[in-house]
Amino acid sequence: MFDPLKLRQDFPMYVNQVKMQGKPLVWLDNGSTTFKPYSVVNAMLRYDTVETANSHRGDYDLCYAVDQEVLATRKAIAKWIHATSENEIVFTSGATDSLNLVAYSYAMSHLKAGDEILIDEEEHASNFLPWLVAARNTGATLKFIPLTKEGRVTAENLEKSMTSKTKIVALAQVTNVLGYRIPVKEFASIIHRYGAIFVVDGAQSVPHIAIDVQDMDCDFLAWSGHKMLGPTGIGVLYGKYSLLEECSPFRTGGGMNNKFNKEGLFTLLPPPARFEAGTMPLAQIYGLHAAVNYLSQLGMDNVQAHETELKHYAVEKLEATDNAILYNADSEAGIVAFNIKGVFAQDAATFLNSRGIACRSGQHCAKALNEFLGTPATVRASFYVYTTKEDIDALADAVLHGKEFLDAYFN
Ligand SMILES: Cc1ncc(COP(=O)(O)O)c(C=O)c1O
Repeated sequence: MFDPLKLRQDFPMYVNQVKMQGKPLVWLDNGSTTFKPYSVVNAMLRYDTVETANSHRGDYDLCYAVDQEVLATRKAIAKWIHATSENEIVFTSGATDSLNLVAYSYAMSHLKAGDEILIDEEEHASNFLPWLVAARNTGATLKFIPLTKEGRVTAENLEKSMTSKTKIVALAQVTNVLGYRIPVKEFASIIHRYGAIFVVDGAQSVPHIAIDVQDMDCDFLAWSGHKMLGPTGIGVLYGKYSLLEECSPFRTGGGMNNKFNKEGLFTLLPPPARFEAGTMPLAQIYGLHAAVNYLSQLGMDNVQAHETELKHYAVEKLEATDNAILYNADSEAGIVAFNIKGVFAQDAATFLNSRGIACRSGQHCAKALNEFLGTPATVRASFYVYTTKEDIDALADAVLHGKEFLDAYFN
């Protein structure tokens, strides 16, 4: 197990003692983005200061070095998530881009009028809107798996929603507001029995738990680098190779074609290159490799154990204030969705900010969920490897005093 306080020595945002409102920063918005360790920053700096060249574009040593690093990153990611080959790893600009890639490159060419896509009302906009658009463009229907009263998707409800028309099921492995985790392997076996494919949004899971895509048997898995200590502007789409081969790219350009001429001949390179048109975000690929190394060294089981402990601690502390409404006390992830009693979420977050505490408030891009929760907005505290119990103590103390302060402020 690691000591989160010691880890902070690896993170410039802590070493530089960044403050908010003149107070030491309490960063509890890791579901939104995460801090980058020096190893990630330095890897990006290496590309920009001593190894700058384009990839696949030159016959000289520097270009070769960049190509080698891109390949090494792909291999490291494949190993980390137990993909069968690095050719199943597509670099994208983030989870949103990865999910759009599947919607445009797979769904648009495989769906027809009358087919069904299944999601649920808890999904992030990035795993909702691409399917809405795919359904509109193909005449397919977007259907919603009913949630339990706590907000979970169960195997029973999934099975009840499946029909012979279901072609795609797209779900978050861990949801971004309530932090519920689905049993991917069990769901995959149900979905595959109906001949449909399973697209998993891993934005809130891949950074936090050990992933084995072969065991999970999902068909696609999408996530972002910046939520796992890596840079912004880089993400990954894992896809089973045979399915990637069935996808026609929705972005064309250099680096993805085999041949083209003015008579209209146009042939594609095999995956993953066919989805990576144009110059790739190379510094970000260097950074992502360093982030994978950093997390591998910590051990994903340790990361998960740390966050589980923090989650239990946070629930206990927030409940003890008697001043918080908790929406997901029993969810698996290191995410707490709550409101301060009688206080609008955005006012609560503004008050937390005045104490140097960064929490997300609002609808968290899951706009359909609030109707389900029966509240216009929630506050979300989300944890990561460098989060300490003292951070949570600071949050609980603020929640304890939040209502008095805000009553005085607004009356
Ligand atoms: C569940 C989920 N899916 C997708 C995304 C989109 O990620 P990005 O904005 O990095 O593309 C997020 C971001 O918050 C998320 O939480």
